[in-house]
Amino acid sequence: MKEQLEQLKVQALAALQDANSPAALDELRVRYLGKKGEVTAVLKQMGKLSAEERPIMGQLANSVRAEIEEKLEERKSQIDAIVLEQKLAAEALDVTIPGEAVQMGHEHPMNQVLQEIKDIFVGLGYQIVDGPEVELADYNFTRLNIEEGHPSRDRSDTFYFANDDSVLLRTQTSPMQIRVMENTKPPICILAPGRVYRKDEADATHSPMFHQIEGLVVDENITMGDLKGALVTLMKRIYGQDAQMRFRPHHFPFTEPSCEMDMQCHKCHGTGEVNGQVCSTCHGEGWIELLGAGMVHPDVLRNCGIDPEKYSGFAFGMGLERMAMGRLKITDLRLIFDNDVRFLNQF
Ligand code: PHE
Repeated sequence: MKEQLEQLKVQALAALQDANSPAALDELRVRYLGKKGEVTAVLKQMGKLSAEERPIMGQLANSVRAEIEEKLEERKSQIDAIVLEQKLAAEALDVTIPGEAVQMGHEHPMNQVLQEIKDIFVGLGYQIVDGPEVELADYNFTRLNIEEGHPSRDRSDTFYFANDDSVLLRTQTSPMQIRVMENTKPPICILAPGRVYRKDEADATHSPMFHQIEGLVVDENITMGDLKGALVTLMKRIYGQDAQMRFRPHHFPFTEPSCEMDMQCHKCHGTGEVNGQVCSTCHGEGWIELLGAGMVHPDVLRNCGIDPEKYSGFAFGMGLERMAMGRLKITDLRLIFDNDVRFLNQF
């Protein structure tokens, strides 16, 4: 039995010395020291020994066990150190390798065009103002002379809040005319850009959310000539000296007289067709509607406490997306909202 134990010790220590992973160590621990391990197996035979031999063998067995345990601990810390070293080597970070370049974005094309338009109007003496997108029906419709029952007030056209018809997402920036006029004495000369909302099906020139830029000038002796002058100046600055535009008579409840301004379609150059097909950008019209405008209705001036006998004014509301389409030669308005970087990177 003594030889058996000595032999086990030599075997175990050699095996431990050769082990080189935590898993191999565990296996050896079980094999030699486990409940069904080899040292334990030897100890189980102690019953067969005489009373004198038993304590001597017991002592020997315990010291073999202790030596194996000690060796296990020693190898364990050696292996842990090796594993750590390998891990550190594998995860080494070379701080001298150039980093990955951060992709810089840039101003959205819509903002670029908005900025150009604002700059032009600021140069003409306009002040930029901002107002709420959640608006009272009173400002969006009633005080703009848009009576109850007018089709634009319909639930199928306008986003109202719950069952309350008095609050809505503004359908136009024109309520800013009221907000400015009720708080300011003429001369007034403002530009109010912002988001507006309509229950429109999206197509090449429509989106349920879009941007308008409202302009309002009120003073003594303001005429339709001033309106045309401001708009023609804008168009030539944005689209070049030979930009093609036209004014058409129109009706708005809050201006009198009223008009709309179109620019020639940049896709079909006014012909209405591309390669024998109806032009998809202007729906074959040859023109793209950019804005509505007119002389501020005397009732609207009066609604805001401004004397129409003394003052007159003009107003316009233009579609920023439509302006940007012409400026940047974009043929489908939905591209502006898709946020595909392949599209955005072109500008
Ligand atoms: N608010 C009108 C629209 O959205 C445009 C407009 C603005 C017309 C100002 C006249 C004066 O269609």
